[in-house]
Amino acid sequence: MEFEPRNGGEEVDSWKEVTLIYNSALKEIGTKLEILNDEFQHVHRYNPIEHIKSRLKTPESIVKKLKKYGYESTISNMVKYINDIAGVRVICSFTSDIYRIAEMIANQDDIKVISIKDYIENPKPSGYKSYHMLVTIPIFLSDRIVDAKVEIQIRTVAMDFWASLEHKIHYKFEGNAPQEIKDELIECAHMVSELDARMLSLNERVKNIEDGEKRNDK
Ligand code: GTP
Ligand code: MG
Repeated sequence: MEFEPRNGGEEVDSWKEVTLIYNSALKEIGTKLEILNDEFQHVHRYNPIEHIKSRLKTPESIVKKLKKYGYESTISNMVKYINDIAGVRVICSFTSDIYRIAEMIANQDDIKVISIKDYIENPKPSGYKSYHMLVTIPIFLSDRIVDAKVEIQIRTVAMDFWASLEHKIHYKFEGNAPQEIKDELIECAHMVSELDARMLSLNERVKNIEDGEKRNDK
């Protein structure tokens, strides 16, 4: 059952309920990712996840987004139309880790994948690269189970570095950065892709050498 705030209560109570549900969703997803990372470390001797950041969208930015979409600011509209009230960002070392993590998340029985946007295959015109999954996760309350939406963004350290600066610049110029700055950002995005590709291939080479040494030891 998709989460809907209880009817009849005060808006303040509904807001508290929304916060509770989405905070729980962040905890559930966070724990799942930690378990997957620990298991991966146990089996493959390395951590695919560098770090995880999670956040609840602020009421101000929820209201702003609803306005942008042309909806009234009500609790029920926000639950229905805002997909990133709960957001988790997973930062990895290598592009290959991104797909590995995405697959491990999608394979969990209780998680439902609603949509995927692969901005690594298809970067945004800005140069933005990241892998986005919109999922739902069941939250077990005392009297019911509700599905809460979580937006998961998976990206490499380099993609994250780029996205933070681009976001800062976008914010500073209120979306209208000078063309030369936009061009430079696109050029940096290409450098990020090249860096990610080279780091991945370097890591593969080292792994092959290590594997060869292990075989020789046997
Ligand atoms: P919103 O952008 O959230 O309105 O929804 P959408 O339908 O466009 O979803 P999308 O998956 O494209 O983007 C969701 C989130 O990804 C944003 O809130 C940002 O965190 C991030 N994002 C998307 N595009 C960019 C971009 O060009 N630059 C940066 N820095 N972040 C981006
Ligand atoms: Mg967007």
